[in-house]
Amino acid sequence: MPRFINVEDFREQARRRLPRTVFDYLEGGAGNDRGLETNRAAFDRFELVPKRFRNVSVRSSAIELFGATLAAPFFIAPTGLNGLLWPDGDIALARAAAAAGVPFVLSTPSQCSIEEVAAKASGALWFQLYVVDRALADALVARAWTAGYRTLMLTVDVPASPKRERDLHNGFSFPMRATPRTIAESLAHPRWTYRVARHGGQVLANFLSDATSAAPALLRREMDASLTWTYLSHLRASWPGRLIVKGVMDPLDAIKCFERGADAVLLSNHGGRQLDSAPAPIAMLPHVAALVEGTLLVDSGFRRGSDIVKAIALGASAVAIGRAVLYGLAVGGESGVRDVIAILEDEIDNTLAQIGCASATALSSEFIAYRAPTTTAMLPVAP
Ligand SMILES: Cc1cc2nc3c(=O)[nH]c(=O)nc-3n(C[C@H](O)[C@H](O)[C@H](O)COP(=O)(O)O)c2cc1C
Repeated sequence: MPRFINVEDFREQARRRLPRTVFDYLEGGAGNDRGLETNRAAFDRFELVPKRFRNVSVRSSAIELFGATLAAPFFIAPTGLNGLLWPDGDIALARAAAAAGVPFVLSTPSQCSIEEVAAKASGALWFQLYVVDRALADALVARAWTAGYRTLMLTVDVPASPKRERDLHNGFSFPMRATPRTIAESLAHPRWTYRVARHGGQVLANFLSDATSAAPALLRREMDASLTWTYLSHLRASWPGRLIVKGVMDPLDAIKCFERGADAVLLSNHGGRQLDSAPAPIAMLPHVAALVEGTLLVDSGFRRGSDIVKAIALGASAVAIGRAVLYGLAVGGESGVRDVIAILEDEIDNTLAQIGCASATALSSEFIAYRAPTTTAMLPVAP
């Protein structure tokens, strides 16, 4: 059994254990994957400055968000098709999050339904909304409220289907079609094939009773591209719980979200999966935090506890974790997710000690040193 000491170890095992087509769906970005590199590289622009002679013998990573305590300053991001990685993957993620005392966000294209996840997992459950059809969106929101979800996350960064070139090359589809390629990959990964085939991980659970064409449209990522600020106001008026807007990058957009009653904004480039040329959200965070009053959340590219510490120090209230926990899910189901969460928690705690900060709530930009991006390569060559 390999030793897993960091998220990268889980990533490598997930790569080995999943069929290539499935791993590429999980891992891939838009275009030529530049967004993945941008997201990771941006963390190096910020360094953490240790402070000395501070009592860090007792430390806490807990934070407050929306009047509740999170045991660690992160939560599990919404991701679709988790059942391709592990049977009932949504429930495994939700249970691992509950055990760790952090929220789990259920995606619209989940493979366990809104109601099933609420019945089988305790803890803070949030629901992520994609708007394909407005009437259907209203119905999903009503179902989420009835099932006990009290935080709604509206994702706004899929105005068009992204060009995911790994998926296009691999012929990825959902439900997965039997092609010579996928059959060969399944035969090479019998444990995955047995697990996923046995549990029929090929449905979008929230749409089973839906007679419209919403599910295929959702899978083609044909969201309602006509959304304007009016829709946000509509949602604000109809949803009595907390409302988060996910996928904002522009500071002025963030201000408008708060003006229209959002409780938080999640700075995100969808993990580099939508627009290849988008900046890294962690790089935008200080600019947005300087201009905006309101709860800021952030995701995209977080793989280390120190990444999370940097985000909180730069003004985020909490971080959403996407692929890092999915690697754990693909390797070991709920226990794999728990292991990844434990690694992140341990790294956060260790980083807090290293920088002389006893509590995640005391993090501030005083702990950050900025490194200007190197521009040498862009300078004009002297004649
Ligand atoms: C496999 C996968 C599926 C995703 N599905 C959704 C989704 O259904 N809804 C959504 O709002 N974001 C979705 N996302 C984006 C994540 O919520 C999050 O923004 C992103 O994963 C953060 O980047 P990271 O993976 O580098 O942590 C998905 C991401 C991945 C990797």
